[in-house]
Amino acid sequence: MSASPRIYLDNAATSWPKPEAVYAAVDRYQRELGAPAGRGAYSEALEVERRLAALRAAIARLIGAQHGRQIVFTSNCTAALNLAIHGLLRPGDRVVTTQVEHNSVLRPLGQLEDDGAIEVERVGCDRSGVVDPDDIARALDKRTRLVVVSHASNVTGAIQPVAEIARLAHEHGALVLVDAAQTTGHLSVDVGSLGADLLASAGHKGLLGPLGTGFLYIARGLEAQIRSLQQGGTGTVSFQDRQPDTLPDKYESGNLNVPGLVGLLAGLEYVTERGIDDVAAHERGLIGRLRAALADVPGLRLFGPTSAEQTVGVLSVALGDFDPQEAAALLDTTHRIQTRAGLHCAPLMHRALGTFDAGGTLRFSVGPFNTVDQIDTAVGAMRELAAATLA
Ligand SMILES: Cc1ncc(COP(=O)(O)O)c(C=O)c1O
Repeated sequence: MSASPRIYLDNAATSWPKPEAVYAAVDRYQRELGAPAGRGAYSEALEVERRLAALRAAIARLIGAQHGRQIVFTSNCTAALNLAIHGLLRPGDRVVTTQVEHNSVLRPLGQLEDDGAIEVERVGCDRSGVVDPDDIARALDKRTRLVVVSHASNVTGAIQPVAEIARLAHEHGALVLVDAAQTTGHLSVDVGSLGADLLASAGHKGLLGPLGTGFLYIARGLEAQIRSLQQGGTGTVSFQDRQPDTLPDKYESGNLNVPGLVGLLAGLEYVTERGIDDVAAHERGLIGRLRAALADVPGLRLFGPTSAEQTVGVLSVALGDFDPQEAAALLDTTHRIQTRAGLHCAPLMHRALGTFDAGGTLRFSVGPFNTVDQIDTAVGAMRELAAATLA
């Protein structure tokens, strides 16, 4: 391993480093609290319960939900999306989604489609990876039960016109599920202004919590239409041998990932104390600087919207026909610059960009702790790589 300091530019996969308070919260939980949530009356168990209630309330405030009970903890964004999709959809339903989606949307929908249970229409996007609401409007009909759309692409960073898409969906009587994996903690996210009936996200990305954390927001009353995918002990209504039908217990059977969730509370507190607008401006500044500096490197193709206002801190590039995996390996071995190469679990998006057959793109994604110096080092390394591979 080279002696240079690690330059982590893979925050779209999971954020690193975490704020010190996250490490401290997980450590303190493991060493001193060590109790399950919602299952004991001793002081440590009560403290754990208070922390998880504080976390639900903090997430609710962050996304504009009315009550913490509407936040269901899951193990990641994938689990939240699966709960929404498999819990809500019934045989005969029709779903409209887009080509920009991650496999954690495409695969559950694909499985239900292959089972012959539902019909799915996948709407395309432009060369920047942005979906046109008019295409959604054309795909909607009276039978459409659900529209699933990501708030921002994990490949190009493009922010989607979710509010407009949701307005159209609601006009047709469809519900809206938003995949906010790439936006919570990076941008202000408000379920009311987005028009989200369901919103899935990760705790371990922009909210700076540990891996193994995520959540699903469920609009009031919608739980009556969403089956639980897993049943079991909830620590509540234990006299009843049937699953509770109230939020969040209906969907939270078994012990929760408390070490991860107390860490997530500390991560969320960091983000809210620093301010989402400050984080957003920092990340936009870095990704804008990277894009501007790479734009004049001969032979390098940049993807996504050119305006920093239309993206989160994600930039995909292609070095001619050079294998993106090899490029990522070279950046790591020569400069310890850590990126993610390939299809980024978004195969249809790479088909839309024309990068599928070349093995995808090389993706840079920034977080709140990246610096201008790190970006400048990445620019220098990319110039060297382009000169060596495209000569
Ligand atoms: C847009 C999008 N949706 C869903 C996911 C899945 O998130 P998780 O790893 O928390 O399951 C990701 C992960 O990168 C993503 O980028």
